[in-house]
Amino acid sequence: MAEHRLNGTIDSHTVLYGVIGDPIRHSKSPIMMNRAFRETGINGVYTAFHITSETLPAFVDGVRAMGMRGVNVTIPHKLQVMELVDEIDPGALAIGAVNTIVNENGKLTGYNTDGIGYVRSLKEEAESGLAGKRIVVIGAGGASRGIVYSLLKEKPESVAISNRTVERAEQLADSLGGEAAGLTAIPNEKLEQWCGDADIVINTTSVGMFPNVGQSPIEGSWMKPGAVASDLIYNPLKTEFLLRAEARGCRIHGGLGMFIYQGAYAFEYWTGQAAPVSAMRETVLEALQA
Ligand code: ATR
Repeated sequence: MAEHRLNGTIDSHTVLYGVIGDPIRHSKSPIMMNRAFRETGINGVYTAFHITSETLPAFVDGVRAMGMRGVNVTIPHKLQVMELVDEIDPGALAIGAVNTIVNENGKLTGYNTDGIGYVRSLKEEAESGLAGKRIVVIGAGGASRGIVYSLLKEKPESVAISNRTVERAEQLADSLGGEAAGLTAIPNEKLEQWCGDADIVINTTSVGMFPNVGQSPIEGSWMKPGAVASDLIYNPLKTEFLLRAEARGCRIHGGLGMFIYQGAYAFEYWTGQAAPVSAMRETVLEALQA
């Protein structure tokens, strides 16, 4: 259980946390996590470290040496760090990426909170029950993999993956259980039809991300009115895909929640306490709009 901070000051009991990546100076994780520590009174401080592939092994040794309690791992280290920790959570192993490290007295365990963070956000913000739903996922990269893995745990009727390079969609579907798991790769010419039948359509590609804000992976008319359109992108907060879906009469779900909840899960793994999600969201929104 994490120690609480007296009078809000950093003192000789303060525990260090951080995020590593290359680049890293754009990261909103430090302001979000420090707000979470302040809000809960936990005696921790969270900073950003610019770590390259060359310095990653020394950094991980440093985590052990300094007794850092927790680390978030972002691009490009989510794969390489798996070789450097002591244990990997089964979910992170199946996804093939680690974004959160928990240090238990020098033993480092790697987790992946991206997929579960996304699903918690989708359930809390857009669609509380995913069981029996027909879901289409556009994109078959690393982000898609974590999300598909976590969606399958919710027992949807089907998860159909579409990708510009269809072979990648097929590989992803096969590696996570294929048809037996309710997982199908669909050819691009069938995407419109599948979207029309879907309860939830999720964009995991970078199409529509700043600065290409006018682009959308599908037409709004492909969506069923009342269905959920969900986008992992949070810059802009409302992508062209979401704008088109909204005009079509769909419910929309942006990518900010995934970022907040992947951090919320990391906070909960490290501290054993519920994350102050609304305060975290408020801080990130303020920073994005500054
Ligand atoms: P991430 O880890 O963010 O998912 P990634 O592994 O590079 O990143 O995957 C990016 C995804 O966005 C892929 O599904 C990619 O499609 P390809 O596999 O065909 O490359 C998709 N993507 C990126 N740019 C795209 C574009 N302009 N049109 C369609 N799909 C695109």
